[in-house]
Amino acid sequence: MQLPQGRISEPDLSYFGLQAYVGTTKHMGGLETTKELIELCHVDEDSYVLGVGCGVGATACYLAKKHGCKVLGVDIHEAMIARANERAEGEGVEGHVEFRVADAQDLPFEDAHFDVVIGESVATFIEDKQKVASECARVTRPGGYVGLNEELWLETPPAQMVEHVRHIWDIKPDIPTLEGWMGLLEGAGLRDIVVRTYEFDTRRESTQVQRYRFQDMWRMFYRTLFLYIKNPAFRKYMAERRYLPKNIFEYLGYAIFVGRRMKP
Ligand SMILES: C[S@@+](CC[C@H](N)C(=O)[O-])C[C@H]1O[C@@H](n2cnc3c(N)ncnc32)[C@H](O)[C@@H]1O
Repeated sequence: MQLPQGRISEPDLSYFGLQAYVGTTKHMGGLETTKELIELCHVDEDSYVLGVGCGVGATACYLAKKHGCKVLGVDIHEAMIARANERAEGEGVEGHVEFRVADAQDLPFEDAHFDVVIGESVATFIEDKQKVASECARVTRPGGYVGLNEELWLETPPAQMVEHVRHIWDIKPDIPTLEGWMGLLEGAGLRDIVVRTYEFDTRRESTQVQRYRFQDMWRMFYRTLFLYIKNPAFRKYMAERRYLPKNIFEYLGYAIFVGRRMKP
């Protein structure tokens, strides 16, 4: 078995900087929800798929492996793209996937360039969510699908909880409700929108680890441990973010939204 390569250097102490450093990213609902999203987006081996906010490339590589399609993943963090390229090589799918640095609010692609655009837990974190939805729709061909899996408030949370969650996950500026997300997708011109809403569920969350190989989990473990032992700033960062609000999952859930770009 080949263990992951890479220097242990100083990470960027931010939510995503740390995820890139340890080499794993996630979204609520794990692999089970990814599979549903892919099915609802009608991905097949002829599809050209854009993965927006692809993180370390787990879904992009899964798509290439299981569905044989061509995938382009973009992420705003260069370190994520480096991890994603390592993964594609490690999983032997580098001929099917490509990764580039790009901002989901300003995608560097022509209109109608992709058959399907997928984003998993990305717009939630971004300031201009309408811009993200509109850009995803713009680069999808007419008749193609945009599929998002995003966090949402199932019920109006206490103001203190909103602040707490924004702080620990670096969310800008807030998480929408179901109606909020629907307004954004309709505002982007998507139609026939299918929605599936979920509450947090431990069994489903556990499918998160199925997206990763043993060596990924090992790297996550030893890099976190290394940081904890060696880096006081990391210990402070984690101490400030150690606890989620107690009853958060009474309020916070997530949903899959799949809409079709209409023919002009
Ligand atoms: C919660 S992670 C999810 C990653 C991946 N989709 C997954 O499911 O593993 C969110 C990702 O969105 C990326 N991101 C945040 N803001 C972005 C932006 N403006 N444009 C593109 N990617 C962005 C982050 O770098 C991070 O990789």
